[in-house]
Parts: sequence; C-alpha cells; structure tokens
Amino acid sequence: MEIEEYLREKAVIINKMIEKFIPRKFDKDAVVFKISPPRFTYNLETLNKAVAEPIWEFLDRGGKRWRPALFLLICEALGKKPEEYLEYAIIPEVVHNGTLIIDDIEDSSEYRRGKPCTYKIYGLDIAINAGNLMYYMPFLALMKNREKIGVKKLSRLYEIYVEEMINLSLGQAMDIAWHKGLANADQISIEDYMQMCAYKTGTLARMAARMAAVLADANEELVEKLGRFAESIGIAFQIQDDILDLTSKEFAERKGGRGQDITEGKRTIMVIYTLNKASQEDRERLIEILNMHTSNQELKDEAIGIMEKYGAIEFAKNYARKLVEESWKEVERLLSPSDAKNKLKSFAQYLIERKI
Ligand code: IPE
Ligand code: IPE
Ligand code: MG
Ligand code: MG
Ligand code: MG
Repeated sequence: MEIEEYLREKAVIINKMIEKFIPRKFDKDAVVFKISPPRFTYNLETLNKAVAEPIWEFLDRGGKRWRPALFLLICEALGKKPEEYLEYAIIPEVVHNGTLIIDDIEDSSEYRRGKPCTYKIYGLDIAINAGNLMYYMPFLALMKNREKIGVKKLSRLYEIYVEEMINLSLGQAMDIAWHKGLANADQISIEDYMQMCAYKTGTLARMAARMAAVLADANEELVEKLGRFAESIGIAFQIQDDILDLTSKEFAERKGGRGQDITEGKRTIMVIYTLNKASQEDRERLIEILNMHTSNQELKDEAIGIMEKYGAIEFAKNYARKLVEESWKEVERLLSPSDAKNKLKSFAQYLIERKI
C-alpha cells in the first residue's frame, strides 16, 4: 500500500530527528543542556540508564509513526515544504510514545509491540519517569527555534499542547473508570463512548493537525477544522484498534494474545453495542467476564462470541468507515487540490483498513 510505504520512509527521518533532542547517549553537547544549562556537576550515566536506554529501547521497537506523518501532510497540503517542519513533527510522536509507556502501567498490560512493556523490563520508577519526560522533551524543538517561530505562534502552540494533554488525561480517566467497572460502566451510550475516544485518542491526532496548521500559517478557523478532522480519524483509528484486538491474530500476538481488551475489562464500542442489544442473559455474562479481568482464552473467546452474535464487529467497522467518510467530506472543501491532499485521503482510509 502506497501510504504504508510513505510511513516507512518518513519513520526513518522522524527517528533521526527524535535522536537530535533525545539522544541515544547523553553527552555534554545534548540540546537539553544547551537550552537549560545545569548548575552543578551531573552524571551522564544516570541519564543514560534511566532515560536514554529505556526510551530508545521502546522507540526502536517500531511503531507506525502516523502522527508525525499526519503533521507533515497537513503542512504540505497547506502549501509548505514539509522538510522545514520535521523538527516539530516529532512532538506528537514522542508524546504518544510516552502515553503508551504510561498507558501500559494503567492497563496492567503485558506486551507492547511484541515485547514486554517498559515497566516490566525497567520497573515502575523508570517507566513512569521516562514516560513523563517524553511529554516534555520534544518541546526542546520549539525552544530551540523560538526566534524563528515567534512569540505569538509559540504561545498558541503551547496552549494547544496543554489543552490536548488535559483532554487526553480526561479520556484516560473515563476509559480507566469504565474498565474498573466504576461509574455505570454497564450503561454507557455510544455518545459517551465517542467523547471518551475523542479525548483519549482524538487528542494527539488533533494536536498534530492543529500544531501543523498553526505553524503553516493557517487561520484560526482552518486550524480548528483540520483539528476536528484529525480528531475524527483518531476516533476511527481507535475503533479499528479495538476491532483488531478481537479479530486479528497477527495484531494480537504483539500484545500477548487475542482479546487483551477483554482481560482489561475495556468498554469498547463493540462491548457497548452488545450491552445495548443483547438478551439479559448474554448481557450479564459479558459483564461478568469483563469484570473477571481474566487471561483465560476460553472465557475471552466466549466474550468475543457474544459480541459476534449481535453483529458488534460489523457495526463497529461500519461506524468507523462512516466517521472517516463524513470527516473527509468536511475537510475536502477546505484544501486546494494537491498530491498531499490525495495522500491525506488515503491516509485516513489506511487508519481504518490497517491490519497491524
Ligand atoms: C496505539 O497507537 C494506541 C492507540 C491509540 C490505540 P498506535 O497503534 O499508533 O501505536 P504505535 O505507535 O503504532 O505502536
Ligand atoms: C491508548 O489507549 C491511548 C493512549 C495511550 C492515550 P488504549 O489503552 O486503548 O491503547 P492500547 O490498546 O493499549 O494500545
Ligand atoms: Mg492500553
Ligand atoms: Mg488504556
Ligand atoms: Mg488496543
């Protein structure tokens, strides 16, 4: 697929750019020390062991790097040269990787990208700290270029960042409350789910699109419309992620087996749809299995069977497809024809058709 090729190509460049701000090995010339010079002596080995090593072990596992690709495509579709925005495109990607390290702790997950989660390898102390650091370190790219960017744009970029990070944590809060069975977790509507998802997964896509648009001189209305488009494809992406967890062997192997979301007790769109449609008996059984947080494959398959019985997976696929189609219609009018615009369309399509 053309877009997968595009992602692979961009991933190499993005990784190089991340290295510039989060070095594989700290030395005295690291950008962070230039921007914020230490006052006393400092031990580089502590930073290598507790920061560079765990972060790069995680980044080197791969990852699709689709958020910076979206960032660059938006700059390009707005008539800019994407090469000039590469340093900033790493921001949503590094933050995203930080959220994954933290999310795996919150979700008691075992595997990520085919390997044990960071906290399983390095411990909670290192994982939490490294994950948090990834929320801030990529901003060195903005700090380094503050003169070039200008104060007005900078303050807008920081504002977008804070706004989206609040949203992201609200989304995580909702998801966590539900997977713990708190707060009427068995009476969630599709609309409730959509807001959780817009917060949880829509935000980093929105952050990428809005930051890119601000940097590419878009007016405020266009910034917000592109943000809304990105949010929608982010939601559709999360729906596809949850579908793959139930249906794809290849995908599930990298996470430790089919139905990890059932072990987690996650209220996915498939779960919510089923709870709204199912007989009393099936409904109670599905809730029972979700509340067990079981790793037993037979029980997980039973839960998947209940969801399949009510056509929940088909429903979710159609829902994600419609979301992408509708959001594309909105954004199509806003951009003039270009290669980047065509790529943006295939990109949105890829997010719901991907198999991994
Ligand atoms: C995983 O995101 C977390 C979700 C929002 C579902 P990605 O699937 O983009 O993760 P990587 O970076 O490609 O591993
Ligand atoms: C990931 O959420 C979203 C964020 C980290 C903000 P999930 O918990 O749904 O993602 P996976 O399934 O673990 O990748
Ligand atoms: Mg998770
Ligand atoms: Mg989670
Ligand atoms: Mg998942």
